[in-house]
Amino acid sequence: MNQHIVIAIDGTSASGKSTNARMVARELGYIHVDTGAMYRTLAWYCLHKKVDLDDVKAVSALCRRWKTSLECTGNQIHLLVDGYFPDKEIRTSEVTEAVSHIAAFQKVRDWMKAKQRECAKFGNLVMEGRDIGTNVFPESEFKFYLDACITERSKRRAADGVQENLAARDQRDSQRASAPLMVALGAMIVNTSLLTPQESSAKIIAEIRKRLADNEQRQLAKAQM
Ligand code: DC
Repeated sequence: MNQHIVIAIDGTSASGKSTNARMVARELGYIHVDTGAMYRTLAWYCLHKKVDLDDVKAVSALCRRWKTSLECTGNQIHLLVDGYFPDKEIRTSEVTEAVSHIAAFQKVRDWMKAKQRECAKFGNLVMEGRDIGTNVFPESEFKFYLDACITERSKRRAADGVQENLAARDQRDSQRASAPLMVALGAMIVNTSLLTPQESSAKIIAEIRKRLADNEQRQLAKAQM
């Protein structure tokens, strides 16, 4: 049985998941996993192989066949395809537009879930995404849901030089039939609208440390019985 700790950080686009997940991972010495990058890698690969993104059978077949591996370097896990991590390519507006379409396909989600669960073999994780607390690691005791108002999120994307219809992507991510974006049971909700990354990550870290200390106390009490 896997004994590693998984911190699940879900939330809307541009709510600060990546920044917070990186800061939390660095502070705790855990490994950071960006599952959005995995979905983006598949979307990029479909575009690269000229697979019709609306063709669920073709996308699912590609996902079954593609040659991938997980690589852990520094405190990050990346999904490689044909031995390559398309770091820059997956951030284009073409991939951003395509990704939430293919992320709705059940076979794609099944494949991603298995791959994401495999990441736990590398150690303690901070995993960010849309369904980590609800679907990928529902057994996690450390669940967080990040959100911010649409004005603030749009500002953040624009500051990164990215123009995108966040509301449309949120709608597709929240309304798909399979593992939609929602608050996991027991998740702590963090609204990052008025918080700096230091403030929001400090809240998350404090909560994790509190829950870890509670667990330790419980185990100690059990051992003494
Ligand atoms: O976090 P991101 O913007 O890089 O994610 C890209 C897309 O991938 C997002 O629109 C929805 C999808 N995604 C998902 O469905 N489930 C996840 N766990 C992570 C991302």
